[in-house]
Amino acid sequence: MDDLRGKYLAAIADAADESALEDLRLRAVGKKGEVSLKMRELGKMTPEERQQVGPKLNALKDEINSALAARKAVLADAALDERLRTEWLDVTLPSRTRRQGSVHPVSQVTEEVTTIFADMGFAVAEGPQVESDWYNFDALNIPAEHPTRTEMDTFYMARAEGDDRPPHVLRTHTSPVQIRAMQAQGAPIRVIAPGRVYRADYDQTHTPMFHQVEGLALDRDISMANLKWCLEEFCRAFFEVDSVELRFRASHFPFTEPSAEVDLRCSWQGGQLKVGEGDDWMEILGSGMVHPRVLRAGNIDPDEWQGFAFGIGIDRLAMLKYGIPDLRAFFDSDLRWLRHYGFAALDVPTLAGGLSR
Ligand code: PHE
Repeated sequence: MDDLRGKYLAAIADAADESALEDLRLRAVGKKGEVSLKMRELGKMTPEERQQVGPKLNALKDEINSALAARKAVLADAALDERLRTEWLDVTLPSRTRRQGSVHPVSQVTEEVTTIFADMGFAVAEGPQVESDWYNFDALNIPAEHPTRTEMDTFYMARAEGDDRPPHVLRTHTSPVQIRAMQAQGAPIRVIAPGRVYRADYDQTHTPMFHQVEGLALDRDISMANLKWCLEEFCRAFFEVDSVELRFRASHFPFTEPSAEVDLRCSWQGGQLKVGEGDDWMEILGSGMVHPRVLRAGNIDPDEWQGFAFGIGIDRLAMLKYGIPDLRAFFDSDLRWLRHYGFAALDVPTLAGGLSR
């Protein structure tokens, strides 16, 4: 018995891995193992012998089993240590500077704008880019013969021959989302709706596809003063400077009354665009108090609710904030331009951490 103990305990202590251990287990205490066979011999012994040998054999079996378990635990610990040594990852390392792709300035600015308005309690709403004539025009108090329909240089979708329903359009602004949001949510409401819009226009500051963010705030007592505060606060946060200067210019939109366009003071010197200085003004948004007819189209009672709406040009904001002189380059997919003006994918804009950095 002492031989067995010596042999197996030494072998177990030397076992290099789990399969060697299992091998030893079978050879010692498995069904046909040496210790088990010895136990079977108990039957042939006299009761006195059995009383002597039985407990010793049981003790040996227990001893071998616990040596197996102890060695198994040691091997498992060593395996874990080895994994920890080879698979470590320093999560405090900064993100890679040599990036594969970049975030387009339009996406970046959309995130920044959304972050600022979300902080003021605006939720994000959405609508389709191929829009019905009714949502894009009629519901916004732009009747069939209204000159705005041609002024906006609308792209019309084709209809099948013989189908004389009014054609759908590529939405010319994000304002139809006002109607959809009112119908879906009712009042009070506070939403913004960023997205693509389309107009047949092409020069240094116009492209046929561009981006707007619509804003809509309705409650029982929202006034033009709230609109002004909201927009000024937005511009301060967005441009991350104190010297932003806004000009509210009386204007006209069929869907707001009264209406105001807002320009931002800027300079264009030497092809470089700068905000808050110079003698130029760049129009960045249209706004006003939502027209009662528009509220009614959104199933909202104008005797009970009122509020403001605005539409901001996202691409314009990107040009101004990041000093990008030509809008057309936004959509050329020129890799050098994207690398120069793009943003690192992991720098998500937050008000606390800084919008742009
Ligand atoms: N939809 C207008 C445009 O595209 C902007 C606007 C939105 C004006 C909301 C007033 C209110 O020019």
